[in-house]
Amino acid sequence: MREKIVAGNWKMNLSENEAISLVQTISLNKVEGVTQIVFPPFIYLTTLLKLNSQVFIGAQNFYPKDKGAFTGEVSITQLKNIGVTHVLVGHSERRTLFSESNEFLKEKVDAALNAGIKVVFCCGEPLEIRQENTHESFVSKQLEESLFHLTSEQLKDIVIAYEPIWAIGTGLTASSEQAEAMHASIRKSLTNKYGAVSADAISILYGGSCNPTNAHELFSCNNVDGGLIGGASLKADEFHAISTAY
Ligand code: PGA
Repeated sequence: MREKIVAGNWKMNLSENEAISLVQTISLNKVEGVTQIVFPPFIYLTTLLKLNSQVFIGAQNFYPKDKGAFTGEVSITQLKNIGVTHVLVGHSERRTLFSESNEFLKEKVDAALNAGIKVVFCCGEPLEIRQENTHESFVSKQLEESLFHLTSEQLKDIVIAYEPIWAIGTGLTASSEQAEAMHASIRKSLTNKYGAVSADAISILYGGSCNPTNAHELFSCNNVDGGLIGGASLKADEFHAISTAY
């Protein structure tokens, strides 16, 4: 049985009080059998970790060097020291707005795993690639270039999140058929590289306008093990409803 995961990517949202109250409410209504993770803005991490809640607290970003003259950046060691357990790597907003390449993401993956932090690795195609019908090879290349240097032992600390860019924050969700087809294709690439036992153990999340209305249909697909949620993760009741949508 693969780990069921519902993760909230808060992006650059919420005040400190809202952040505290959201974690407290999620924790109070903890959904058994589902790993719930939130990715708040950096400045709230310490405060949220000190709540000792039932929710895993992850970081949206970090710089893959241990320390030094990198103004404005935060290292994975610093995150590890305060108790962060997970990081996002490869989110499409980091790829596009901050020009993070597959090669750079590979460095981030290595830095996180070396520090003992789990990685939620995001992949997904833009609309024009979907329209060209080359989305499966596009995503497969993202995985190959940033993840396929890992050993099968290291792969155990990776969760994959498939997020079609055209579905992020747009209200357009992939249909359950589209999601399942891509998730199956991702698992096939993992099987070809690492064998069925390793590939079958990896959780693959869907992200992109996932909400309480569509989560159940998406999570019912064989290869969809949960969700990476943006907008709907900012409201405790919606995040809870999605977490119970299996
Ligand atoms: P969304 O964002 O749920 O608001 O579409 C998902 C994400 O960016 O991870």
